Amino acid sequence: NKKITIAIDGFSSTGKSTLAKQLANHLGYIYVDTGAMYRAVTLFAMQNGYINAESFDKQTLITSLPNIKLQFKFNADLGFGEMYLNGVNVETEIRTIEVSSFVSKVAEVSEVRAKLVEQQKEMGKDKAIVMDGRDIGTVVFPDAELKIFMTASATTRAQRRYDELVAKGDAVTFEEVLKNVEERDYIDTHRKDSPLVMAEDAMEIDNSHLNRKEQFDLVLELVNEIT
Ligand code: C5P
Repeated sequence: NKKITIAIDGFSSTGKSTLAKQLANHLGYIYVDTGAMYRAVTLFAMQNGYINAESFDKQTLITSLPNIKLQFKFNADLGFGEMYLNGVNVETEIRTIEVSSFVSKVAEVSEVRAKLVEQQKEMGKDKAIVMDGRDIGTVVFPDAELKIFMTASATTRAQRRYDELVAKGDAVTFEEVLKNVEERDYIDTHRKDSPLVMAEDAMEIDNSHLNRKEQFDLVLELVNEIT
């Protein structure tokens, strides 16, 4: 079987990572969650006081970028790589609603994007990779053999994210989660550098009414046609 690159893009909480992990496990490919990388940079900015609800010191973050080391370390129990920021496992910390509320602002910064895109390209140089994010099919791997663009209604997505956060014990309201999803959609689609847009050669999947298995089977068929 031919090794390919699979790019999965789309709006927040469309189930990109669930699909990407399923595919990677099934195909024996590497899975890379690029959102985790933007989240880890955001956590770094929060920890150092460069971003909070009142202000964002973009310039200092840009100057500090060489001090940020991001790694994925495979966790065999979970079956995927966990995010490490400067040697520390931050997998749980990067998923809070607080990080979610700042991440799109950090992801607007071109210098941040350039650094992460470079690392992502390097990770994909041998193919056999499933990468999810917002700009994978358009910027990171414009030559990917398979590009998926996932969509679902904002309320469907907010409900999913809300259920996940509540299951983890986070005290959030549905309205707060919906507002965050809508705000990120807005910033992600309107930013100057690498806005979220469907690649011309991507296959769009609206999964508002698909379960995980139906979605997986659909995409696996596409993979099998190519490989
Ligand atoms: O995928 P996830 O929802 O965890 O991504 C968090 C945020 O990171 C997105 O809302 C977006 O602002 C940013 N992001 C990005 N480009 C990517 C992946 C994520 O700008 N490739």
